[in-house]
Amino acid sequence: MNRSIAHGAILPGLACDPNAPASILVVDDMPDNVALIRAHLTMNGYHVIEAFDGAQALRQVADHRPDLILLDVMMPILDGYEVCRRLKGEAATILTPIVIVSALSDQEDRIRGIDAGADDFLTKPFDRTELLARVRSLLRVKRYTDELDHAETVIGSLALGVEAKDPYTEGHCARLARYSVRVGETLTLNDGPLRALRQGGVLHDVGKVGIPDAILNKPGKLTEEEMDIVREHPLIGERICSPLKSLRGVLPIIRHHHERFDGSGYPDRLRGEEIPLIARITSVVDVYDALRTQRPYKPALPAEKALEILREETKKGWWDGQVVEILAHIVSTNGEGRSGD
Ligand SMILES: [Fe+2]
Repeated sequence: MNRSIAHGAILPGLACDPNAPASILVVDDMPDNVALIRAHLTMNGYHVIEAFDGAQALRQVADHRPDLILLDVMMPILDGYEVCRRLKGEAATILTPIVIVSALSDQEDRIRGIDAGADDFLTKPFDRTELLARVRSLLRVKRYTDELDHAETVIGSLALGVEAKDPYTEGHCARLARYSVRVGETLTLNDGPLRALRQGGVLHDVGKVGIPDAILNKPGKLTEEEMDIVREHPLIGERICSPLKSLRGVLPIIRHHHERFDGSGYPDRLRGEEIPLIARITSVVDVYDALRTQRPYKPALPAEKALEILREETKKGWWDGQVVEILAHIVSTNGEGRSGD
């Protein structure tokens, strides 16, 4: 099974070792300037990487993933603004703090720097104490975002751990993420909801970590009391993920993926379009994939049969018919690619 699809999609990277010295990329086409800054930073325990033009700076960032970048503006080939713009346009480096270090001090240059996404400015010639204060402050913010990134990684692993406990659901998270995004793309949703759908594929059932295994893996029918316990999982999942700002968009999926169109679902008994669209998409795809998967008490159903059941349940008032038909179209035209899971 290829877990990297689901894992890599929501988990952009592990945080760096918190005990390692912070690494700082110094970019300037004047070697004397680089040497001066290097001396100040090295003396204060930082690890320094160097680049002498914009193109080399981009290569050094790709190779070394520095914690902070001190970037000169006036450089041949690629100037500092362009380097900054490119790095702030990449998911992997959008949170890396960039300080523009420049002899230019007028307002227009600062505005250009802000437009390019710079986090701070230093005007040459700069004061050594001021340089170190800016570096310290931005590295504190970077450390904090790394810790949040790490927290997201832990929650993602927790969700995949829930999936791994049940051999019958292997690959379910990755398929759910993939089909949900395809339905979302057909509905021309923008980047935010598409990201939430991708995350939701992995995280929708993370709250099951709080449900006893004896209930989750019980062969045969659950009692009403046991069902009540299982019905807690959307709320537990929401509590696990809500402290993380980066997971805010996926919370409606985690909380509402068991609501039904006619108001007979849980936990809030929402009806129709009261149920967020991304949750309606996830619930339809979740049920479809469950029907297509073998369980101890049932075989895997063929795609046509699974869609037939979804359509019958739509008539009963459970699902969003538009979402069901989009999924049916995707399955019939593109196939499912289940063997790749
Ligand atoms: Fe669920």
